[in-house]
Amino acid sequence: MSSPKPRWFTDTEPGHSEWYIERFRTMAAEGADLDGEARLIDAMVPRKSRILDAGCGPGRIGGRLHQLGHEVVGVDVDPKLIAAAEQDYPGPHWLVGDLVELDLAAGGEDEPFDAIVCAGNVLVFVAEGTEPRVLSNFARLLKPEGFAAVGFHVNRGLSPDRLDEMAVGAGLRTDIRLATWDVKPWHADADFAVTILRRAD
Ligand SMILES: C[S@@+](CC[C@H](N)C(=O)[O-])C[C@H]1O[C@@H](n2cnc3c(N)ncnc32)[C@H](O)[C@@H]1O
Repeated sequence: MSSPKPRWFTDTEPGHSEWYIERFRTMAAEGADLDGEARLIDAMVPRKSRILDAGCGPGRIGGRLHQLGHEVVGVDVDPKLIAAAEQDYPGPHWLVGDLVELDLAAGGEDEPFDAIVCAGNVLVFVAEGTEPRVLSNFARLLKPEGFAAVGFHVNRGLSPDRLDEMAVGAGLRTDIRLATWDVKPWHADADFAVTILRRAD
C-alpha cells in the first residue's frame, strides 16, 4: 500500500533537509549535548539490546546507542538524512524507509526489538492520519517485553490524549508519560511529552 507524503516533505521549505543536517553537525562540533534521548533509552534496556531508531534523521540518537554497545537499526524516509547518518555515525544499520509501510525484513532486519525510540517530533512529521499505522508497526516490531519511547511537542496538532487513543487501537498501552527526556514528571502545562508505550498483550 502506498502512503501519503510525510509532512517532513510537504510542510517544509526546499533545502530543509540540508539545513537540518548542518544544524546538528554544528551543534555536535560546538560540543552541544545531543545525547539526552539516548541516555534515557540506555538506562531502560539491558546491555547489547536491539534498538530501532524510528525516524532517525541524521543519526545522533542511534549513533550514540551504538557507541554504548547496542545493536541499532535506524530508519528514515529522507535519503539525505540517512546519507548523513552513514557518514557521521558509522556502525548502525541505517535504512531509508517509511514508518507507515515499515518492511524491515526487506532490509535484512527480521528480528524484533527491545526498544524503539521515536524522538524529535517524528510523529508530528509523518503524513497526517498515518500515525495509527506507524504505531501498529511499532507494536508488530517489539519483543513482548519491549517498549517504544515517543517524544513530541504537544502544540503541533497531536495531543498526548490522542496518542493514547491511537496506541490502544494499535495494540499498545501507555505505560509512563514524562515532560522531558531527563525524566521530569508530566504535568498539564508541559509543552513536550515523552511517552513510553508497551505492547497491550
Ligand atoms: C525533526 S526530525 C527528527 C530526527 C531524529 N529523530 C532526531 O531527533 O534527531 C523528524 C524526522 O522524521 C522523519 N520522518 C517523518 N515522517 C517519516 C516517515 N513516514 N517515515 C520515516 N521517517 C519519517 C523525517 O525524515 C525526519 O528525519
